[in-house]
Amino acid sequence: MSAVFQVEHLKKFFGGLAVTQDVSIAMQPGDRVALIGPNGAGKTTFVNLVTGLVRPDSGKVFLAGEDVSELGQTARVKKGLVRSFQVTRLFSEMTPQEHVGLAILQRQGRSGRLFGHFQSMPDVTAEAHRLLATLGIDGVAGHRVSEIAYGQQRLLEIALALALQPKVLLLDEPAAGVPQSDTPRIEAALAGLPPDLAVLMIDHDMDLIFRFAKRVIVLAGGAVIFDGSPQAVTADQRVREAYLGSYADARRTA
Ligand SMILES: Nc1ncnc2c1ncn2[C@@H]1O[C@H](COP(=O)(O)OP(=O)(O)OP(=O)(O)O)[C@@H](O)[C@H]1O
Ligand SMILES: [Mg+2]
Repeated sequence: MSAVFQVEHLKKFFGGLAVTQDVSIAMQPGDRVALIGPNGAGKTTFVNLVTGLVRPDSGKVFLAGEDVSELGQTARVKKGLVRSFQVTRLFSEMTPQEHVGLAILQRQGRSGRLFGHFQSMPDVTAEAHRLLATLGIDGVAGHRVSEIAYGQQRLLEIALALALQPKVLLLDEPAAGVPQSDTPRIEAALAGLPPDLAVLMIDHDMDLIFRFAKRVIVLAGGAVIFDGSPQAVTADQRVREAYLGSYADARRTA
């Protein structure tokens, strides 16, 4: 099967600091990959580079075989490369229904239409409602974002990403800041993602990662130090030294 997402020899320096050191990653449709590593390892930078938010010093990004390295963020989104952010970027006065409605219009190239009009577009409101229901937040569709729980806001961000109908979805810590009691809802949302979608998730919650991922990539100091199965990662000596030591030990003695 050919890769839907391929990154080749990505490199980035911030000042004298090599934050991305010759990173190459390929993903197939339906992949469920966890990208893990210590704080400052370069995980968010990787997402910033491949989505076109930050320009790499060198390296290439391909979507379904097409070189998108010179395209801007919006053009990459149109080609199916969609991300979520580590920190929520929602408008507190807007409702989930409005957020998702606008994302659908953006995908359809109709976002130039006057805001407010989509309320009278039954196809858009129906699709928005369906998406919110998939993520279990249709009950708060008409509430202001400022009035809904943080866990629901993070679910709304996943809904926004899905409204763009991605082929490749990059989730930067989707459960960050969510109370433990709400993480099952995030997990259920992740489990319900379209089977053909290639998903790469960054997170620090190892239990969540081991339930989600079929493959784990470990970044440390800007370099990939492991790319393999969740079973193999806890046994890998370099990974244990760089990141996982305490977790692996806890699992062994548990
Ligand atoms: N715009 C920037 N300018 C300069 N340095 C940056 C910039 N963005 C990130 N860095 C540095 O690059 C390194 C990697 O940061 P990055 O945010 O990618 O790490 P991360 O793996 O996502 O960490 P975390 O797990 O804490 O989110 C850090 O040392 C950070 O300080
Ligand atoms: Mg980060």
